Amino acid sequence: MLKILHHPLINIKLTAMRSKDTNHQEFRQNLNEIASLMVYETLRDYQTKPMDVTTPLNKTYHGVTFEQEIVIIPILRAGLGMLTGILDLVPQARVGHIGMYRNEENDSVVEYFFKIPDVEKTANIIVVDPMLATGTSASDAISKLRSLGFTNIRLVCLVGVDKGLEKIQTEHPNVDIYLAAKDDYLNENNYIIPGLGDAGDRIFGTKGK
Ligand code: URA
Repeated sequence: MLKILHHPLINIKLTAMRSKDTNHQEFRQNLNEIASLMVYETLRDYQTKPMDVTTPLNKTYHGVTFEQEIVIIPILRAGLGMLTGILDLVPQARVGHIGMYRNEENDSVVEYFFKIPDVEKTANIIVVDPMLATGTSASDAISKLRSLGFTNIRLVCLVGVDKGLEKIQTEHPNVDIYLAAKDDYLNENNYIIPGLGDAGDRIFGTKGK
């Protein structure tokens, strides 16, 4: 399932992020704010279980809590740019990290870090990476999680293109994908067009002003 989250707030913040005149501080803030809005929708159908609390008036209230643990897994490094915004809304979530980079010589993905919480295989896993370009990193990350036995995996990206979407949908048909926008195509350097540039550099201010 692919869900593109159309909402004026998301679209306005994403417009600011796309502008080359937006600095790293504003870029990061908008990304985290969009991540909060996106995760609100991503969690919509997560199951809850009963949880009783006692109110200050000494009455029992039959409330709810999440049925399964929630684990947010940013793909390093750009995925970190969405983490704070998600945790603002889901502070009880655990966090895993997957570090990957693309070997330019043979276009393969090299994993250099993998650490995830020790949770039930039925936990609700949310893999986050702002840019779904070729889809190779996200697909490899999901393959690794599936090989460990995780069954409930969702992918939350900011912007995606057909190539990445098709890869995830073909290789991981049970993984629901959430996007803020679907862009036109990948250029010869695998940048999303019109896109917003290199998300990692723009989040962390590692290039330019
Ligand atoms: N990764 C990015 O950061 N930007 C793109 O356009 C594509 C992949």
